[in-house]
Amino acid sequence: MTYNPLDPAVTANPYPHYARLRAEEPVKWLDMMQGFAVSRWDDVEEVLSDGKTFSSAQFWPALLGEYDPVPEVQPMISLDPPGHVRIRKLANKAFVPSRVGVMQDRIRSVTHELIDAIFAKHGAEGTFDFVWEFSGLFPVSVIAEVLGVDIARRVDFKTWVDDLLAAGNRAAYGPERLAEIERSSQAIRAYFEEVYDERAANPGPDLISGFIQAEVNGERLTRSEVLNMAILLLIGGVETTTNLLGITFAHLKTHPDIAQAIWADPGKIPALLEEMLRFDGPVQMLFRHTTCDTRLAGVAIPKGSLVLPLLGSANHDERKFDRSEELVLDRNPKEIMSFGQGPHFCLGSYLSRMEAKSALEILTARFERIEVIGDTVKWSDSYFARGPKTLPVRFKAR
Ligand code: HEM
Repeated sequence: MTYNPLDPAVTANPYPHYARLRAEEPVKWLDMMQGFAVSRWDDVEEVLSDGKTFSSAQFWPALLGEYDPVPEVQPMISLDPPGHVRIRKLANKAFVPSRVGVMQDRIRSVTHELIDAIFAKHGAEGTFDFVWEFSGLFPVSVIAEVLGVDIARRVDFKTWVDDLLAAGNRAAYGPERLAEIERSSQAIRAYFEEVYDERAANPGPDLISGFIQAEVNGERLTRSEVLNMAILLLIGGVETTTNLLGITFAHLKTHPDIAQAIWADPGKIPALLEEMLRFDGPVQMLFRHTTCDTRLAGVAIPKGSLVLPLLGSANHDERKFDRSEELVLDRNPKEIMSFGQGPHFCLGSYLSRMEAKSALEILTARFERIEVIGDTVKWSDSYFARGPKTLPVRFKAR
């Protein structure tokens, strides 16, 4: 069988392809990726839980290359044990629900501000682009609040993040685009250096102050590590949450009964989000490299190989979930693979669930309806990040 994650037909709907992989070749060598795709739940779990055999060290260098704004240290997403453990403990210390939870009110006001702007621009009824005018702005505004940085700069943040993520495709770009990426890389570093110095002198309730102050067994994060952490949170926390909201509305269009159910009873929103994360999560693929010869599901994988755990496929594994290809509102999946597993389990899972829940609660309260226009969604071309590029919707305010 062939499976090409770069084929637009596959990025538009990878799930039938995953099903064939799981059935026919659960660990499959992909020529075009020069790596092994891993598609069953148990094997994905094995890869992500064993950071010694399946290393994350090449993740950041592969993504950013020479455009890394803080090249002198690796961020935790690209560290293996034991170095990862030290940073993760310090990050956990700052990124506690109590510090993030106090942001709840600000998250709610950011949501209201964005909705007010939509009503001010389009009136009480009409059309707007959900990605451009809501979901693309919401998480970057929230993370600006959480980091305690200037919300007026959110357009800059969005540009910096988009440019840094684009660095992953740097081989395909000409000098002009590369110069933009270089400018963004320098700008984001300069900006956070200023914020660091200001916060080190005047700590506040924000997360950057939290990172500066965090201490475990007399250890602290260095200045470069704090800069890196802030940049990692921007990169990790913006597009993923934007995509979760876009994905949700894209599927509500094809599941009108579920849309009706959550509009009638917003208490069902957390269940919807959990099942949505399983059914069609924003991160489809992760990247690891083997540090030794190993075997997975009977397949020999040589030392130094690229291994690609397919999170979206694990979430549809029929060995793990009944009716795995269906979106079932009250499924309440006990485990999902959408935030990864093991040592690198997403640091922002609590924040993103809180954000998405607040956004949906307020959207369902302030809109009588929001309905995607048209039958086809334009999905992002990325093979690892999933979400609609744009999402025109018809709406009516309450
Ligand atoms: C729905 C939204 C999100 C999804 C689906 C998601 C998904 C993931 C996944 C799959 C990983 C594991 C990466 C790996 O194992 O290589 C991860 C790690 C991480 N995520 Fe998220 N994420 C989301 C939101 C966020 C948010 C809002 C933040 C922060 C503001 C965040 C920060 C991080 C960080 C810092 C890591 C690295 C943790 C470590 O290396 O120990 N994420 N995320």
